[in-house]
Amino acid sequence: MSALTELEIFNNTSKIPEGWYWVNPSRSLKKGKIQHLKMLGKDFALFRSESGRVGLLEAHCPHMGAHLAEGKVEGESVRCFFHHWKFDREGNLEDIPCRSKLNLRIKTPSFLVEEHYGMIWLWVGGEIPGPLPYVPELKDQEVDFLHGTPFIKACHPNVMMINAIDAHHFTSVHKLPVHLNLEPKIIDQRTIQFNNTTNVPNTNMFTRFIGRFYKGPLTYSMCYFNAHTGTVTVGPDFLHFHIMFALRQNELGQAEGQTILVTKKRKGFIGKLVNAVLLELTRHVGNYFAKGDTEVFKTIKFHFKHPLIEDNSIIKFIQHAEKMNYANWGLTPFASDSYSHKTEVSHEKIN
Ligand code: FES
Ligand SMILES: [Fe+2]
Repeated sequence: MSALTELEIFNNTSKIPEGWYWVNPSRSLKKGKIQHLKMLGKDFALFRSESGRVGLLEAHCPHMGAHLAEGKVEGESVRCFFHHWKFDREGNLEDIPCRSKLNLRIKTPSFLVEEHYGMIWLWVGGEIPGPLPYVPELKDQEVDFLHGTPFIKACHPNVMMINAIDAHHFTSVHKLPVHLNLEPKIIDQRTIQFNNTTNVPNTNMFTRFIGRFYKGPLTYSMCYFNAHTGTVTVGPDFLHFHIMFALRQNELGQAEGQTILVTKKRKGFIGKLVNAVLLELTRHVGNYFAKGDTEVFKTIKFHFKHPLIEDNSIIKFIQHAEKMNYANWGLTPFASDSYSHKTEVSHEKIN
């Protein structure tokens, strides 16, 4: 398996797999507000229109480069602070106040954003976006959710993502009394799911007690989206917990993460109460997973030189990631000299 030491996309800060990346919680952006956003090495102006739609524009105004987030939201558009040019959500220039007639066709780059599970997501990739990250058991269902505390791990997001399917370390680090066998199932080019196939062993009173809550194999599954976001489903047959780990890399190449805890919608006041308790409980399950590995991620230098058969799920995950489309997004900060090829430039003749 020499290919595992010569990886092109996996653990590579300059090649970002095509997919959706978490931006900010929806509640942090009120109607009519605009914010500076630095993400995946680029500067943006993130705003919510007065009708409530989220927009994302390249940060710097195509006129003279002022940061658009210094401006303000006007209806569905953004007005630049400096000379008051106005751009819609698609980046089309709508108004130059010193002109009675707009005779210039200028467009500043805009980016596709959606809201899902109370989070704003950015699409990185080609023209046609794929589905947003989801909880497989609750796909297309109404849900309630809760956001955990954002976190940073000092390694590439892909490396942190491995942790959830590293069955080998569940016994060494987390002392899990069960041996997991995580079977891969490719859903599509960006999505791969791993499902446990082993039953709870009949070794002692504790495992016999736990085993009573599972008809078949112990439920543990991980569904990955573009190798940066993953949903863990765990729990006895009568109650499944769903924890989404959404990651992106920061300018140091570290994993910047946000957990999203999800449960199916339950109706009425009692339903709301049950879900509040359940989501809080899910948060604790999520914290249990995150605990114990923190130190190793501070110093790990990922180099998979000697994979074992026991590492099979990790190998499958990496191989899947290696086949993804990627955006040559780079982590170079916005440079004014690279501006002209990214923006439609329209000059007026000046004598
Ligand atoms: S820099 Fe934005 S309008 Fe002049
Ligand atoms: Fe772990």
